[in-house]
Amino acid sequence: MWGLSRKGDSGFSSSSTALQVTQGIHATALTAIVTGASSGIGAETARVLALRGVHVIMGVIDMIDANNVKESILKEIPTAKVDVMKLDLSSMASVQNFATEFNSTRLPLNILINNAGICAAPFMLSTDNVELQFAINYLGHFHLTNLLLDNMKKTTRESKVQGRIVNVSSTGHQFTYRGGIHFEKINDPSSYNNWRAYGQSKLANILHAKELARRFKVLP
Ligand SMILES: NC(=O)c1ccc[n+]([C@@H]2O[C@H](COP(=O)([O-])OP(=O)(O)OC[C@H]3O[C@@H](n4cnc5c(N)ncnc54)[C@H](OP(=O)(O)O)[C@@H]3O)[C@@H](O)[C@H]2O)c1
Repeated sequence: MWGLSRKGDSGFSSSSTALQVTQGIHATALTAIVTGASSGIGAETARVLALRGVHVIMGVIDMIDANNVKESILKEIPTAKVDVMKLDLSSMASVQNFATEFNSTRLPLNILINNAGICAAPFMLSTDNVELQFAINYLGHFHLTNLLLDNMKKTTRESKVQGRIVNVSSTGHQFTYRGGIHFEKINDPSSYNNWRAYGQSKLANILHAKELARRFKVLP
């Protein structure tokens, strides 16, 4: 429990709740995409952002579950702005469709929360023939982020409010394969370990976030 309650520079810890970290924030001018918002951490993130006034786009694979979450948010917060859009991160075509559809709405994009994920799944391949955890947890979000970056940069320039891209990782990133990411063996079922492959995908999430931070600290 000690590790979970240790506060970082932000003044919050891993045990801080979404309600606590957004206390006192009124964000009615902001728009956020939350992937995997039909359950778990994503659903709670969507709920609390909506509570703070953010226009939330739920990027989800299961429209029925997502609409149930949306209904429960609206029941609690009748003024909430919540939309549901289909997104299957295991398919690059679906990611492309989602981004095209979102960008065509002409909505701004202030916050992208790359949250969706699967954990310790047995060896499977995605629609595009990539090991499924790497495909969903990392590659799908990497592609999605790239397709939304121009919108985020434009939003930042016009609103003069910094954008945020949040990649939800895991302490599991420490338990990747020896040597880090097995690029040459991503699709090798014989060396596959479901937990190490999860850790590998979560390490990729962190490296992606670090590189984004390095590139976009100052807008070109
Ligand atoms: N819970 C933890 O203790 C914990 C710890 C460390 C890190 N995390 C990370 O936190 C994030 C959220 O996890 P959670 O615990 O909230 O799990 P969760 O309740 O299972 O939520 C994961 C979400 O991702 C969605 N998803 C799965 N495959 C997808 C796909 N192909 N395309 C789009 N969405 C997809 C799921 O939709 P369906 O349910 O419809 O499949 C679900 O809504 C994950 O990135 C996970 O690695 C969780």
